[in-house]
Amino acid sequence: MKLQRVLQYAQQLLKETITEGDTVVDATAGNGHDTLFLAQLVGDTGQVYAFDVQKSAVDATLHRLLDAGLEHRALILHRGHEELANHVHKTVAAAIFNLGYLPGSDHDIITKPNTTIQAIEALLALLKIGGIIVLVIYHGHSGGKEERDAVINYVSQLPQKYVHVLKYEFLNQQNDPPFVIALEKMKELS
Ligand SMILES: C[S@@+](CC[C@H](N)C(=O)[O-])C[C@H]1O[C@@H](n2cnc3c(N)ncnc32)[C@H](O)[C@@H]1O
Repeated sequence: MKLQRVLQYAQQLLKETITEGDTVVDATAGNGHDTLFLAQLVGDTGQVYAFDVQKSAVDATLHRLLDAGLEHRALILHRGHEELANHVHKTVAAAIFNLGYLPGSDHDIITKPNTTIQAIEALLALLKIGGIIVLVIYHGHSGGKEERDAVINYVSQLPQKYVHVLKYEFLNQQNDPPFVIALEKMKELS
């Protein structure tokens, strides 16, 4: 297979960007799959900040890290990612968002346009030059299309000298398949 699946592509971007000792963010920890992936990449000298508004997600993420013996590499916050600027005070190398709801959990607890954009904005300020933000956009659920459109509208208007914005999407898949938006910071906003 030559064309990478969306989730593989998202992980490849993170892998290519993150090196040992980096500070990174999982903005939607959920069951902790991405938090674990990030914890493996940052090594013992790095740090993952993981956010989720659901206690069950925070617990699941902690258990996943404990099972892997990597809990010391992450700070798991039972907080919305819109509060990111209050908790992360270091330069960030990369961040991942999985928008939507947590499979197997309450489908009414979803990421929302305003808070998602607030978090992206905060991350762009903290991001190092060459750092990336990866958004995996699920949009098949109720409220998903509004969030998708708001995020696309916001990122499309970012100055291209400041940040490069890419969309990676399969055009002929059925049932609202997820797609990736990736942002690479090119320079500080002057
Ligand atoms: C698609 S799931 C994430 C899946 C996760 N990456 C994984 O590996 O399992 C979306 C998550 O975002 C969380 N969420 C919703 N609003 C949030 C917010 N404002 N801040 C942080 N997390 C939020 C939900 O509780 C849910 O766990």
